[in-house]
Amino acid sequence: MTRRFYVTTPIYYVNGAPHIGHAYTSIAADVMARFHRLAGDDVFFLTGTDEHGQKVEQAAQAAGVAPKAFVDTVSANFRAMADAMAISYDDFIRTTEPRHIASAQALWRKVADNGAIYLDAYEGWYALRDECFYGEDELVAGPDGKKVAPTGAPVEWVKEPSYFFRLSDYQDRLLALYEQHPEFLGPHGARNEIISFVKQGLRDLSISRTSFKWGIPVPGDERHVMYVWFDALANYLSALGYPDTDAPRMAFWPASLHLVGKDIARFHAIYWPAFLMAAGIDLPRKVFANGWWTIEGQKMSKSLGNVIDPRELVADFGLDAVRFFVLREVPFGGDSDLSRKALMTRNNVELANDLGNLAQRTLSLVARNCGGVVPQRRSLTEEDQKLIGQVAVLPQLLAAQIERCALTDALEDVWKVIRACNAYIDHQAPWALRKTDEARMADVLRVLLDALRGIATMLQPFMPHSMARMLDQLGVAEDERTFAALETPLPGGRQLPAPQGIFPRYVEPEPS
Ligand code: MSP
Repeated sequence: MTRRFYVTTPIYYVNGAPHIGHAYTSIAADVMARFHRLAGDDVFFLTGTDEHGQKVEQAAQAAGVAPKAFVDTVSANFRAMADAMAISYDDFIRTTEPRHIASAQALWRKVADNGAIYLDAYEGWYALRDECFYGEDELVAGPDGKKVAPTGAPVEWVKEPSYFFRLSDYQDRLLALYEQHPEFLGPHGARNEIISFVKQGLRDLSISRTSFKWGIPVPGDERHVMYVWFDALANYLSALGYPDTDAPRMAFWPASLHLVGKDIARFHAIYWPAFLMAAGIDLPRKVFANGWWTIEGQKMSKSLGNVIDPRELVADFGLDAVRFFVLREVPFGGDSDLSRKALMTRNNVELANDLGNLAQRTLSLVARNCGGVVPQRRSLTEEDQKLIGQVAVLPQLLAAQIERCALTDALEDVWKVIRACNAYIDHQAPWALRKTDEARMADVLRVLLDALRGIATMLQPFMPHSMARMLDQLGVAEDERTFAALETPLPGGRQLPAPQGIFPRYVEPEPS
């Protein structure tokens, strides 16, 4: 039976240009989606833009543009970034689309009909930057002694009529969820933080605003617009066609995985399941929070002028080197620093040297010494078998790593095999065998071709373009690139194209 896999990225605020932090979650989600497709699963991969709320409204005002025209432009820029990063999304949802608005309103009605919403007045702190309400007890002293949000965001005192969601009613059910389904929330750090936050007690949540207009009207009371997080979280259902339970895409619910940044774990692991419980809708299977990137040791910020558009890095290093770097550099879930030097080192050592040279050496030996024809697979020595065995377990090994969102460990598993291949080629020295034992040389090259095919197949989700090129060079047809296809060895005798380098070494240009 085909398994369904529904993975989401956060939908991005369109108050500014996309940067590498946004691209990061999308790249990770893309790897998951591609991996599951190659494993034969039925995949739905959703991304999009979060276009309502005061923050976006103010950004439009600052740009001197009407909100709708503003969000159209910025959303298009996010979509262009996703395309430039080869994000293989199946749908791109925008919260200003009628399909989303109708769906979010239906979800509101459902929650209200079940008695979980009431009208009152909100008086308290709000951080516009985070689009988040904070309790007095959560605030900390800022640099100038003023109270700020725990994230450092400025807070303002808000007082306005508001609809409330009975979040306090869900504390026990949420704790039971984390307890009974430890896999629901990861990594460990985020899970512990959320559990202790919920244990401290949950207040009812203000879920509507009246002091501005740029939002989805609350059904039945148009003086209010929905709190942007109620609106935004609903995207995961609206893209599937909710509330139409017959919509074909609804078969993908519950979501398999919401990938989010650690800053928004609270919204996904507390508010979202509580809204769904209130609506009587099944809960997503997993929320996983990735860490944050700093740039050359500093927080990325407009005022520091160090906000990196991933497309600039791609122009210098190539798309796959950037995708590889962000997933390889730090265990997925942790924080890390992005520097040109680190990117260059990863590219040169692991891509150009370890993998690129291995492929180049093998393919040019086949070109030179075997007329570019794939040798037949014949009997294997113990050493050959060991290497082939290491490759053969990769699909299983990686599936387990992907399941627990351990993308970096998955890459490490592949690199162990790449290193083993490099040790094998050095030890077997097929270039020397040419003169002494041509048949053995052909066997060794065949083993290496098979190993490279396995490696390139497994790396496709991470580096789709370069691995497609590598598989072309290895003579692997399009329909032979799935994980299942690895079980059938390529027939010998195929003519390979002339080998071409895949990962150039990067040399930092001299400062002018
Ligand atoms: N609109 C909300 C999400 C709604 S989901 C229903 C939002 N948008 S955001 O554009 O501000 O952030 C989107 C994602 O980008 C978050 O997951 C956030 O963690 C991530 N990042 C923003 N800056 C980042 C870094 N510097 N590093 C890594 N990820 C970062 O929140």
